[in-house]
Amino acid sequence: MQNFDYMTPTRLIFGKGVVEKLPSVMAQFGKKILLTYGGGSIKKIGLYQKVVELLKGYEIVELSGIQPNPKYDPSVLDGVRLCKEHKVDVILAVGGGSVLDCSKAIAAGACYDGDPWDLITYKVKAKAALPIVDIITLAATGSEYDAGGVISRTDTNDKIGYIDRLLYPRVSFLDPTYTFSVNKKQTAAGIADAMNHTIEQYFAEDTTLLNDGFCESMLRSLMVNGRRCLENPEDYTARAEMMLACTYGCNNILSLGNSPSGWPCHGIEHALSAYYDITHGEGLAIITPRWMRHILNEHTLPRFVKYGINVFGIDPTLPQKEIAERAIDETYHFFESIGIPMHLREVGIDDSRIGEMAHHIAVNEGLDQAYAPLSEEDIAEILTKSL
Ligand code: NZQ
Ligand code: ZN
Repeated sequence: MQNFDYMTPTRLIFGKGVVEKLPSVMAQFGKKILLTYGGGSIKKIGLYQKVVELLKGYEIVELSGIQPNPKYDPSVLDGVRLCKEHKVDVILAVGGGSVLDCSKAIAAGACYDGDPWDLITYKVKAKAALPIVDIITLAATGSEYDAGGVISRTDTNDKIGYIDRLLYPRVSFLDPTYTFSVNKKQTAAGIADAMNHTIEQYFAEDTTLLNDGFCESMLRSLMVNGRRCLENPEDYTARAEMMLACTYGCNNILSLGNSPSGWPCHGIEHALSAYYDITHGEGLAIITPRWMRHILNEHTLPRFVKYGINVFGIDPTLPQKEIAERAIDETYHFFESIGIPMHLREVGIDDSRIGEMAHHIAVNEGLDQAYAPLSEEDIAEILTKSL
């Protein structure tokens, strides 16, 4: 087992109606709030109105219109400007992962005098960040329990994962009832995202029985409860378990002591959504089985066998290669069965920029260091097979 130094300082407040605690939670951070949100879903579900009502007496500045795959320009830049102009004390992010990720970059940018892009690209290490509180409304990214945010810059086709311990939310409110309104497409994308977070940590060189068990249980839970959420969007028990599972996805708790895996599917998908602005979870679902098939070899075979038996219940007496192949097929068919388009062409991506994207990924994502190292040619082949 590898050494690690681990802390997740985020307070999770979970369950139906927990947002009532918002005023007392916000009181510890000050009086001036930047309220961030997306394209209006929080107004449709009455959450915006509820928050404003609860925070009477606070001074609220708003940043709305944060898009999926949140953009540096205008959202991060506007948020930083508002924080500085109004001397904001705390950011309250209400929405999905995109709203929260954008808020994390704003939180760091607000405490920095230069161009916030310096921080996102690690040219300069942030010295401080504003505190962040969130009410997460979509089960997917795990941003509510991690220190990362992913920011896109359209002019350069960059989509960068910006991670800094300063960016952990101080408090995350998780009320599963706010996810009842998430449509089938976004629910399925959330299931695929959280499953892939788990798979990225499971397929590593050095793992433990403990972590393997966590991951296998995560995957089974996400498949069972994910399906239930799709069948009955207001199934509280299913939405609740899915929400908690997603929360565990990205803060490394599933891989403490494991050797790093390199998160290859994320490295590839981030370029797809940077170039084509596609939905992150859909891109991952398309890439994952093709990546699996590409890296299946004598060395990786035992991991696939374990995955197939413990996650999908494949007969352990079958030949190992057959178990592995079946496990990859099961992965593909599960994503397909929850309504995800399983070809890049279906989400508007053709072969015209594959070489360019493969080069971008190879240069920027370091996948030659991944569990199963990927060269530029490997990446291009995975993308081509995904068409
Ligand atoms: O903008 P609004 O109107 O709020 O609508 C959103 C958006 O259109 C909607 N939505 C959110 N909550 C809803 C709802 N619709 C109805 N009811 C609700 N309760 O869903 C749409 C997608 O929202 P978005 O926030 O983009 O989705 P998600 O949470 O999946 O976030 C995706 C972003 O997170 C990044 C992805 O790359 C992508 O940019 N990631 C962040 C990670 C992290 N911070 O740790 C890790 C992930 O691997 C991922 O890369
Ligand atoms: Zn993800």
